[in-house]
Amino acid sequence: MGFSTKAIHAGQEPDPSTGAVTVPIYQTSTYVQDALGKHKGYEYARTQNPTRMALEKNLAALEGGLAAHCFASGMAAIDTMMKLLKTGDHIIVSSNTYGGTFRLFDKVLKAFGLDFSYVDTTDAANVQSALRPSTQMVFVEIPTNPVMAVADLEGIGNLTKDRGIRLVVDNTFMSPYFLRPIEWGADLVVHSTTKYLNGHSDSVGGVVITTRAEDAERIGFLQNAAGAIISPFDSFLILRGTKTLAVRMRQHDENGRRVASFLDEHPKVKKVYYPGLPQHPQHTRAKRLMTGFGGMIAFETGSLAAARSVLDNVRLCALAESLGGVETLISHPATMTHASVPAEQRARLGITDGLVRISVGIEDVEDIITDLDAALQKV
Ligand SMILES: Cc1ncc(COP(=O)(O)O)c(C=O)c1O
Repeated sequence: MGFSTKAIHAGQEPDPSTGAVTVPIYQTSTYVQDALGKHKGYEYARTQNPTRMALEKNLAALEGGLAAHCFASGMAAIDTMMKLLKTGDHIIVSSNTYGGTFRLFDKVLKAFGLDFSYVDTTDAANVQSALRPSTQMVFVEIPTNPVMAVADLEGIGNLTKDRGIRLVVDNTFMSPYFLRPIEWGADLVVHSTTKYLNGHSDSVGGVVITTRAEDAERIGFLQNAAGAIISPFDSFLILRGTKTLAVRMRQHDENGRRVASFLDEHPKVKKVYYPGLPQHPQHTRAKRLMTGFGGMIAFETGSLAAARSVLDNVRLCALAESLGGVETLISHPATMTHASVPAEQRARLGITDGLVRISVGIEDVEDIITDLDAALQKV
C-alpha cells in the first residue's frame, strides 16, 4: 500500500457495531464485563481505548514500525521512552535539540542518574568519540530545531547497530511522509503529534514508535503504569490529521521552498537555514535521506531589534510557539522555544537574538511572501 492509502486506512476498519467509516471517539473510562474474568479485550481506559489504539496502529504503519504508543504530549512520549533506560546509562544527544527536550534531560532525568553528552550529530565521528561502555542510546533530532542541521543518520545508524545501542529519532519536523528513520537504522521514532501529524494546531500529543518486540512491550507497560495517555478526542483529531498528511506536506514543502528562496534573496536577511537551499551544509545529505524539505525555515536578521521589528510587523504570519499547522507561525527561538537553553550554549549553536523561525503554512504562498516582505521592509 502507498503512503496515503495507509494514512487513510491503517488501523481504521469500519466500526464493528455500526459500520461508521470513521473511528468513533470512545469517551469512556471503563467497559462492562460479561462475567468475572470474561470481557471483550477492554477493561479500563488508561490501559485500552479503541480510538487511541486505532491511532497507534495508524502511526506504526506510517513509520514502518512494529508498534506505536500515544501520549498526552510529545514531552510525555519522550519522558516515557527514556524509562527504557536505568541509572548509570549514558545517552548521546544532538547538540541543538528542542529546548523542552534539553530541559527534561538536564533538569529532570539527570537527577535520576542518566548521563547525557551533547554532540554535533551532523558528523558521525563526534558520536563515535562520545561513545562509552555505558552508552545505551543515541537521540537525534532531524533536522535540528531551529537551525535545521541534518544529522548523519546513516553513519550513526552503522555505529549503533554494531553495538546494540538504541538509535532514537525525533521525526517531528519531517513527518514520516518525508523521512522514515527506521529505514535508515532507527530503533525508535518519537513525534510531537501536536505538529504535522495532527496539522491543525488544535491538539497536543505525542507518540513512541518501536521496532523491537521487547521495547514495544515495555513502552506499553510504562504507558499503563505511568499513565500519561492521550485522550480519545485528541486521538480522533490526529487520526483525522494523518488522512491528509501527504497533501499537506506536499504543500508545506512547495511553500517552504518558495519562502526560503525569497528570504535568501532579500537584502535585509543575513542568512537562511533551510536544507532545501543548495548552500545548506547538508543539502546533499538531506536530498538523500528525505523526499522533501518541509516547511521549517530559520533566518538571521542581524539583531534583536531587527527580529523584533519583523515579529511586530507581520500581519498574516502569527507570532506563536509551535509549528506544523496549516497556518504560518513565526517565532523567536532565543526567547520562546529555546529560552530554557543556557545563553552561552545558544550562542554556540547559532541561536542568536536576531534569529527568527517560520513554520510555513499552506496558505497561498504569495500572501505569505507579501506579509514577510512588508515586515522586512520596516527593519
Ligand atoms: C522537535 C520537537 N520534539 C518534541 C517537542 C515536544 O512536543 P510537545 O509540545 O507536544 O510536548 C517539540 C515541541 O515543540 C518539538 O518541536
